[in-house]
Amino acid sequence: MLGVVETDDPGSPAANEVRVRMHASSLNRHDYNVALGILPVEHRRILMSDGAGIIEAVGTGVTDFAVGDQVVSRFFPDWQEGDAPLATFARTPGDGLDGYGVELVVRPAHWFTHLPRDWSFAEAATLPTAGLTAWRALAVEGQLKAGQDVLVLGTGGVSVFALQLAKQMGARVIITSSSDEKLERARDLGADFGVNYRRNENWCDAVLKFTKGRGVDLVVETAGPGTLPQSMEATRIGGHIVLVGVLTGIAGQVPTVALMGRQQTLHGITVGSRTQQLEMIQALNTMDLRPVIDVTYPFAKIVEAFQFQESGRHFGKICIKY
Ligand SMILES: NC(=O)c1ccc[n+]([C@@H]2O[C@H](COP(=O)([O-])OP(=O)(O)OC[C@H]3O[C@@H](n4cnc5c(N)ncnc54)[C@H](OP(=O)(O)O)[C@@H]3O)[C@@H](O)[C@H]2O)c1
Repeated sequence: MLGVVETDDPGSPAANEVRVRMHASSLNRHDYNVALGILPVEHRRILMSDGAGIIEAVGTGVTDFAVGDQVVSRFFPDWQEGDAPLATFARTPGDGLDGYGVELVVRPAHWFTHLPRDWSFAEAATLPTAGLTAWRALAVEGQLKAGQDVLVLGTGGVSVFALQLAKQMGARVIITSSSDEKLERARDLGADFGVNYRRNENWCDAVLKFTKGRGVDLVVETAGPGTLPQSMEATRIGGHIVLVGVLTGIAGQVPTVALMGRQQTLHGITVGSRTQQLEMIQALNTMDLRPVIDVTYPFAKIVEAFQFQESGRHFGKICIKY
């Protein structure tokens, strides 16, 4: 059951910890799955993997942050750099650990980074999960270059951020959606071509036509097994598919011969490391990009926020303000 309750003040930070007053969070599909028990947690859990706030106190030994600094959380707090230390969400706030749907936290300082310059707390709260996943798919694993073609699927948090980032990086972007109205909004954000996947069952043909038969260089695959075969069809020989999502299910068939014959790379990722978050924020400080926040709810209306997410009417992100 989802509800708002009183909890104890977390107290003063110990060595290498910070006390943070949270001001905003953002909803991800992951949070929804935890809230509904689709991803079961063992006992009562404070939800929300993303959080942004202001440092109220620092423990001894903290050198990266000072009182008054604005900070944003991290999805895998133990993952500093290199390969991920684990393949589960056991150490992810809002899943295996208590999250940021709370006014005050005391946590290790390295669980946070600074915000991009002049970003609001709500804007920054879109970064730890959706933003970093899109960044890693494009800039780290996809090695996206200006002039390349990128395909993003749907108009949720990860995809809209990927659209915005890819445009900033000089790519051409193709986007799919179930809604013509959402495709129009995507065009306003710079999308070069849109396909309604509801009205075009074989939407990969439209992508191929737009790329003159060549196919895109890179796909940010947010939908999973139900779309993967068409994503492969829509990708050029030697192209790259970064698999991040499971919107159409958690298992399915991969056309292995086609993958081999087309010499494509299929690369699964989950979010990213602290180093990658720092690199993303450094890049965002040079970019003309603000995340698209469709609606912001007050904390007390978190249930309504999840209901709106469930409706699928959102475009980009849904945020919570405390
Ligand atoms: N691997 C990772 O690190 C990572 C990180 C973040 C999220 N994810 C995963 O990525 C997926 C997207 O997350 P999100 O937070 O962006 O979700 P979201 O904001 O809830 O996005 C949902 C949107 O996806 C689109 N969609 C649904 N079914 C689709 C289909 N068959 N084909 C194309 N688009 C479809 C819809 O867009 P339209 O309304 O425009 O049709 C829908 O509004 C989820 O599966 C999530 O768990 C993974």
